[in-house]
Amino acid sequence: MTVILGLESSCDDSAVALVTSDRRILAQAVVGQTAAHQPYGGVVPEIAARAHVEILPDLIRRVLNDAGLSVHDLDAIAATAGPGLIGGVMVALLAGKGLALATGKALIAVNHLEGHALSPRLVDPDLGFPYLLLLVSGGHCQLLEVRGIGDYRRLATTIDDAAGEAFDKAAKLLGLLYPGGPALEELAKSGNPMAVPLPRPLVGSGEPHFSFAGLKSAVQRAVASSEHKREDIAASFQQAVVDCLLDRTALALGSSDAPALVVAGGVAANQAIRSALADLARREGRRFSVPPAWLCTDNAAMIAWAGAERFAAGLTDGLDAPARARWPLDESAEKVRGAGVKA
Ligand code: KG4
Ligand code: ZN
Repeated sequence: MTVILGLESSCDDSAVALVTSDRRILAQAVVGQTAAHQPYGGVVPEIAARAHVEILPDLIRRVLNDAGLSVHDLDAIAATAGPGLIGGVMVALLAGKGLALATGKALIAVNHLEGHALSPRLVDPDLGFPYLLLLVSGGHCQLLEVRGIGDYRRLATTIDDAAGEAFDKAAKLLGLLYPGGPALEELAKSGNPMAVPLPRPLVGSGEPHFSFAGLKSAVQRAVASSEHKREDIAASFQQAVVDCLLDRTALALGSSDAPALVVAGGVAANQAIRSALADLARREGRRFSVPPAWLCTDNAAMIAWAGAERFAAGLTDGLDAPARARWPLDESAEKVRGAGVKA
């Protein structure tokens, strides 16, 4: 059994967790920065980086204290090394390097996307490789075949906005505060998903990718027309996103014989998306796995867990590991216009 410390600061959540190789979460903490960014309607990179510098050291102390451990009890330190807002990424990575240097423990430079991708295995021990992963977050919308640790094949990505970005932009148009995804889901509960006709970009097309920019423009027109109730626009938007995700995932399932379908990333916290994908998996005869909502949005338990998986595979990194703004899981996949940078 090994104990891994996970550190995360690639966007607007500072997070620290202690996770064991036998899937126990000994302690964890996430401190968001919503109030600091809300006046700007989105994450301001410079504000985020400074806040991580202020928050992370105390959080590390608190989590070790909660677990009754010292840094010398650790087997390895896993820190997100990208992709993300580079000023923030550097904070956790440098903290991890400092701790590794001071204690002589191994450093694991974790790809934040691999953290999301492996997160279901932390809570679902029976989920083996390969699986088809729908990774939906603020900066990414991808379908990937997860074949093993560090072994990913990208089947689809977005040609413009990510799914979470679409939620955040639609929410802003509806006058909801940042971060918009959860607020839009709440508003949609009292709306009619059939009330507002909205496009489903690329649905039914033979090409594998996602697109959400046209949907956002249609929401903009619906809001401007004042013909519809806000909750109906929210519910219709959410239904359109669900339909796009389902159609693209069904297409990918047609070209993958992976026995399981998995959804992860912040947008996977959305109940409508979780249940629609669970139904799709059932129809297609695949096993379905989705982490609990707290493990879908950014956290450090998934970073520690990815670290535990990499450590067990003998994959550690040197103190020269770079911080990376862009870091695709499948380096061989062709670049697609507009594919996001942050996680
Ligand atoms: O994975 P994540 O926490 O951070 C990134 O790495 O991007 O994902 C954040 C994204 C945001 O766009 C947020 O609005 C969206 O996930 N999100 C949701 C929900 N909860 C978070 N979108 C729709 N419904 C939700 N319940
Ligand atoms: Zn993320």
